[in-house]
Amino acid sequence: MADCLNGGGKAGNFTNLDGTEQKMVSASAPPARRGFVGACFFVYMGLLTCVAVIAFILGCYSVNKVRNPDYPESALTSNLGTVPDGYSVFSLGTGLGYWSQATAMNHSRSDHGVVAVGKYAYLIGGVSDEGPNGTARVLDSIVRYDTETGLMTEMATMLAPRYRFAYAVLNGNIYVMGGTDSAAQDALPTDTVMVYNVGANKWTYGDKLSAPRIDPCGAAVAGKVYVFGGYNETFGSLASVEELDPTTASATSPAVWNKLPASSNLAVSRGDCRAVAVDKTIYAVGGAEYYINPNKSCDGDLWINCYRFLRSVEAFDPATKTWTPRASMVNARGDFGIEALPGGRIIVAGGERGNGVANQQAMYEVEEYVAADNIWITKAPLPEARFRDDLAFVNGRVYAFGGAPTCGQVPGADCYQVALRSVFAYFDVQYPRLYAAYKAASASAPRAATSRRMLLRRR
Ligand SMILES: *[C@@H]1O[C@H](CO)[C@@H](O)[C@H](O)[C@H]1NC(C)=O
Ligand SMILES: *[C@@H]1O[C@H](CO)[C@@H](O)[C@H](O)[C@H]1NC(C)=O
Ligand SMILES: *[C@@H]1O[C@H](CO)[C@@H](O)[C@H](O)[C@H]1NC(C)=O
Ligand SMILES: *[C@@H]1O[C@H](CO)[C@@H](O)[C@H](O)[C@H]1NC(C)=O
Repeated sequence: MADCLNGGGKAGNFTNLDGTEQKMVSASAPPARRGFVGACFFVYMGLLTCVAVIAFILGCYSVNKVRNPDYPESALTSNLGTVPDGYSVFSLGTGLGYWSQATAMNHSRSDHGVVAVGKYAYLIGGVSDEGPNGTARVLDSIVRYDTETGLMTEMATMLAPRYRFAYAVLNGNIYVMGGTDSAAQDALPTDTVMVYNVGANKWTYGDKLSAPRIDPCGAAVAGKVYVFGGYNETFGSLASVEELDPTTASATSPAVWNKLPASSNLAVSRGDCRAVAVDKTIYAVGGAEYYINPNKSCDGDLWINCYRFLRSVEAFDPATKTWTPRASMVNARGDFGIEALPGGRIIVAGGERGNGVANQQAMYEVEEYVAADNIWITKAPLPEARFRDDLAFVNGRVYAFGGAPTCGQVPGADCYQVALRSVFAYFDVQYPRLYAAYKAASASAPRAATSRRMLLRRR
């Protein structure tokens, strides 16, 4: 081979860039070896052709797998739209954030709502173990929690006890929609709406919903209040949406609810869902869906076989009044805390999952959604697992209030008995909105949480 490469061992020709030939300096080139050099040339060209064919085949293969053969094995990008299929994506913000203990609430509280107003968090309704002899008590209290001092003040009592409701805030009014006032296992959903005016510290009844809902979700956007999802009287999950325009109220009658047509329904019916508005869009997140399981009985105590916790997320455009799917959460969850964050982000913390046999298993997992990139990013977990909690973004921090730890796993151990008083504050660590895109070690490696589990809770 060495002989071939230097043209028979003694001399060779080089072609300059301008096309002129240049002789290699050589003492004497025996003319008898010219034929041998010609044979080497054909072997050399043959090998080059082989290499070109192999490269072509590999090129076709990689184009087929990756579409963009110019994309490197791994890259940092701020634009997820440029990442070809087949790449895994990892946010540089993964795992960031820090939770620290804050002043605990005076009373345990679970299944409540929390609304941020100025430096305060308003804790609304819920359930605690403060009934006679430690029985469940559905709360009619609203407490103003000062995040600077930890001081708590009882505000005007609600018109009735309420938990497992949806809430929304619009123009200084907090709308408490649906839910129930009974701590019994077979509590029936209500269709009532209570409105709290924060400035006046005063409650009034609003117009009734078109149908009772328990564990629904709600939010306000573009001057209107929306409530959707939840469960009906027989605990079927709901997809329907109702809309309220407060400007249609008159001096004598409150604004009325308008049930939107089926074309405005959620694509996936869901109860125990959560929702927030971000930049004129409402996001309906997670929850649990009732479905008919073809393989398993759901009679009696087996009801768990016919509900599944959801990872799915839908976005509502108030202009078209339609929902479109968005990226699913990393973890399926129901009954979790949610809050909108600055910069077009959403944070969810805790939640309920099941193991296929029992539900009411509390989660530590925290995730953040970045709307501009349509991606969920795992963040620092809660120090203490919880579900039926809620969040408020106050003073640049996210506060997680109450909820329940894993409970109800044995008969008689009801969740209200272990409702939490603890409060945690989350420090939102800044990070560049950059993603590492990389080829996974094996294309067939399982992606995070692709398998859905069938679970749910019933109280
Ligand atoms: C609470 O428990 C005590 C002792 O078991 C009982 O005597 C009392 O009647 C109970 N009170 C209520 C309100 O149930
Ligand atoms: C909470 O407890 C503190 C200290 O015991 C008390 O000063 C405050 O009034 C209580 N607040 C509420 C809302 O119960
Ligand atoms: C509740 O919803 C389920 C479907 O999710 C439906 O089959 C059932 O008839 C509904 N029950 C009532 C009382 O509307
Ligand atoms: C029911 O069983 C079939 C066959 O094992 C399976 O393909 C299907 O996914 C199952 N459906 C549900 C809802 O579990």
